[in-house]
Amino acid sequence: MSKNTVTVIDNRNGNSYEFNILDASIGPSVVDISTFYKNTGMFTYDEGYTSTASCKSDITYIDGETGKLMYRGYDISYMANKKTFLDTAFLLLNGDLPTQEELDNFTLEMKKRSFVHEAVKKLFDAFPDRAHPMAILSAGVSALATLYFKHLDINTSEEFREMSNRIVAKIPTLAAFSYRYSKGLPIIYPDLNRGFTENFLYMMRAYPHQHIELRDVEIKALDTIFTLHADHEQNASTTAVRNLASTMAHPYAAISAGIGALWGKSHGGANESVIRQLEMIGSVDKVDEYIARAKDKNDPFRLMGFGHRVYKNFDPRATILKDIRDDLMGELNISGKLIEVANKIEHIALNDEYFVSRGLYPNIDFYSGLILQALKIPKEMFAVIFVIGRTPGWIAQWNELQQQKNIKIARPRQLYNGPTERTPK
Ligand code: SDX
Repeated sequence: MSKNTVTVIDNRNGNSYEFNILDASIGPSVVDISTFYKNTGMFTYDEGYTSTASCKSDITYIDGETGKLMYRGYDISYMANKKTFLDTAFLLLNGDLPTQEELDNFTLEMKKRSFVHEAVKKLFDAFPDRAHPMAILSAGVSALATLYFKHLDINTSEEFREMSNRIVAKIPTLAAFSYRYSKGLPIIYPDLNRGFTENFLYMMRAYPHQHIELRDVEIKALDTIFTLHADHEQNASTTAVRNLASTMAHPYAAISAGIGALWGKSHGGANESVIRQLEMIGSVDKVDEYIARAKDKNDPFRLMGFGHRVYKNFDPRATILKDIRDDLMGELNISGKLIEVANKIEHIALNDEYFVSRGLYPNIDFYSGLILQALKIPKEMFAVIFVIGRTPGWIAQWNELQQQKNIKIARPRQLYNGPTERTPK
């Protein structure tokens, strides 16, 4: 019976080193290299962690080759088509889908906790008009630590449940407030007669003492977008959240750090960049020019909404969003240049050797931006929408690490290329 190990041979001196293989429940096994430096005197090197597992996790599984995504073992298409975002949040946070009674109680919790302390308004008042809502939201989440400081130290499952429900429930209110403040508009408080996702659209669109009706097709489209964004294994922002969890930082600091990481154009900021790019291209007869630029190694221009570190096949979330986009455009009777430009880019990229050979398929951000535009969500709010969806995933990942027996602080090493010791002149 062969040993479940790998052997590394240093060809410079013939020394060989053996490392254990750890098997996954599904997906790739890992080589445990935690003793690599102690045994070999060398570090391993993997910029961007393309082949590195940073942790063990039970939460989300992705297979980039087959375009598979599961939350706690449930396929993303089941969650998007048969369940709601609150089902998904409960599943990620608690490990199982809620019973009807659990869902009713969770929904009530979300309503009760949806209001934010009035002190947050004083903080938001200090920001100038036109401040980006992601900057306001990140500050708002950090500010929760000044208001709910008993959650700076989570020890029991009850304290975790209360903290996680508090953050998941307050993020949409903070997000809507961030938008209203960025536009100098009066803020709209949550309406406890409305559901979680409907309430967010209400707080974004309503005016004081004005009753508004929201269409089910819009609410369902946004709820599905939240579900599709809820977690995604060890992506860059989740890695940021886990890094803070490894230092025993409190959840508000970790979620605020996740918001900062997600805002990057290469990550959750991509959906806003997709729309800005489509507007910049402007018409179908300019698409070829920009495709050529995206392929030109000497041109930093990249096609926003294309490519993914893990999916070298279609992003399963993009497949679901593509159908929602097409249905919504029909329902809301939306057409126009942006769709034509997007469709031409998509058609070329799906057939062009440069993109196909690199596995550069449309990702979640290529379709979410067009849907959010159809829902009359402003571009600067697209990454905020991503935050609302991703928050339960971040908290579940933060908690999974915090529950570990021996938490190892995230502290990678480096390949030093700097100057050797210099004698001061
Ligand atoms: C999200 O990780 C996650 O799970 C993230 C996410 C989540 O749910 O959390 O899925 C959400 O962030 C989706 C990705 C959104 N970002 C974008 O749409 C921005 C555009 N995409 C690229 O920046 C890029 O594709 C990344 C950042 C997404 C992935 O980059 P990688 O894996 O580091 O790939 P790479 O930079 O090594 O590129 C491989 C090759 C290179 O060419 P060669 O050197 O092999 O010749 O593909 C090329 C790149 O130049 N390439 C692109 C491209 N993306 C990669 N060329 C043109 N346009 C692009 N968009």
